[in-house]
Amino acid sequence: MSSNSERTASYPFSEEFHSHFAGTGGVDQSDQSTAIDEHTMEELRGLAARYPEPRSALLPMLHLVQSVDGRVSPAGIEACARVLGITPAQVSGVATFYTMYKRRPAGEHHIGICTTSVCAILGGDVLLDRVEHRLGIKEGQTTPDGKFSLERIECNAACDFAPIMMVNWEFMDNMTPRKADEILDALAAGKTVHSSRGATITSWRDSERVLAGFPDGRADEGPTAGEASLSGLEIARQHGWSAPGPQRTAPDTESETQSDSANQSEGRSRDE
Ligand code: FES
Repeated sequence: MSSNSERTASYPFSEEFHSHFAGTGGVDQSDQSTAIDEHTMEELRGLAARYPEPRSALLPMLHLVQSVDGRVSPAGIEACARVLGITPAQVSGVATFYTMYKRRPAGEHHIGICTTSVCAILGGDVLLDRVEHRLGIKEGQTTPDGKFSLERIECNAACDFAPIMMVNWEFMDNMTPRKADEILDALAAGKTVHSSRGATITSWRDSERVLAGFPDGRADEGPTAGEASLSGLEIARQHGWSAPGPQRTAPDTESETQSDSANQSEGRSRDE
């Protein structure tokens, strides 16, 4: 019997798809705890009212749920569904699609290590390994004391500062294992830690509240651009280079050309 027919005979296959990302799957229904109160409901309603189509508010609303419950809780899903007049399944479908929404409690500080190409080449995987050992957890897990959670992240558009580590979505540039140790030790000791290009680190829940659309007034705290990002601009200035002005691009399809000609003839006949 061929291996193919063996497989057909044993359908459904015993093999299962294993996601690279830990924690994928549904929202954790075993934990029904919530801190959502009437004040939170009021804020959720306020977010929905900011959009012409209330349903557009779902992403920020889920960030607000995370800032209150430390995860996308079952109660948070129900609350969003109630406010928006959609089903909990529809909310859950969104919450489980994006990796920024956590189905289990994140830590007080959420650590992200980029292992996409540039960061990987410059040591991202070594960094992730070091942080796992330092915290005693694997990616996708939270320390038992709730202080840290860890995630392997995709490119965070900071390749010019690779390898990077994120703390509560703030950048820690040009990381080394030793620098990561120092940052984690400082956070564990409750010391003040500054992002390389951003605000002073507070907590993941605070960051989630900002992402929900409630500014904390610290958007301009810290440098917003680093030397590596600005070096191209500096070289252009030295040489007197500037970007070309906007130009009309040539039509790139036959149908576009035909449609342009048709429009021109129509215009001519109207004029005539
Ligand atoms: S590859 Fe890590 S930030 Fe781009």
